[in-house]
Amino acid sequence: MRIVLIGPPGAGKGTQARVLAEHLSIPAISTGDLFRAHVERGTPLGRQARTYMNAGGLVPDEVTTAMTADRLREADAASGYLLDGFPRTVRQGELLDEVLAAHNATLDRVLAFDVPDDDLVRRLAGRRTCGDCGLAQHATAASGDEPGACQQCGGALQRRKDDQEETVRNRLAVYTEQTEPLLDWYKARGLLTRVNATGSVDEVTRRTLAAVLPSTSRSV
Ligand code: AP5
Repeated sequence: MRIVLIGPPGAGKGTQARVLAEHLSIPAISTGDLFRAHVERGTPLGRQARTYMNAGGLVPDEVTTAMTADRLREADAASGYLLDGFPRTVRQGELLDEVLAAHNATLDRVLAFDVPDDDLVRRLAGRRTCGDCGLAQHATAASGDEPGACQQCGGALQRRKDDQEETVRNRLAVYTEQTEPLLDWYKARGLLTRVNATGSVDEVTRRTLAAVLPSTSRSV
């Protein structure tokens, strides 16, 4: 299966991508994570991306697509994947189509996560990401015994630089201006399903699985 997850910052794309990847036995590929790995390694791509990311803007389409296309050529993506955060402009959607055509592949579904802005701001203000296992969690969900420790592996939690209030506001505006038009683009092609992404993580997982596996997900 080839699935795209679209949603505003904090909608839970990364959280659900991890869970769904396990259910569907396909890799979750996050362009945000790929960029952050480049930034951490100090590569030329990372240096270029960092300026855009810290301001809450988008890295240019061609640069982002080239990086994603490289990742999609890896062996584990041969039989499917979940794309978390790519494409996010109509131009990226067109470029993804070219990449898919080169692999004789098509998308199965595009899922758009809907969450009210107030919830997004609350989620991002409290988000802490584990430096070891990468799990995103809310600050209050961290282990009570060791404040600041990951609930999954005990690793140290970090706050993302782009989760500062002003940067979050810019990311939300960028989503409205540059990514929302992509929803109509996919809707016109019959690929879009909107998912109510409020409620608990488990509730959202159930709705998301129902959208991609309508016949089997009720028992999950
Ligand atoms: P990226 O890392 O993709 O950031 P984003 O799209 O802004 O999304 P987030 O990672 O902030 O949120 P999420 O939807 O994954 O939510 P999460 O699951 O973490 O991209 C970062 C930057 O890279 C971009 O700004 C851009 O500069 C660049 N970039 C990336 N892709 C690009 C592209 N295609 N083109 C150009 N540039 C690109 O959840 C958030 C919090 O909420 C967590 O704390 C989590 O625990 C909590 N949570 C999750 N689900 C629930 C729930 N159901 N209830 C309560 N809390 C929940």
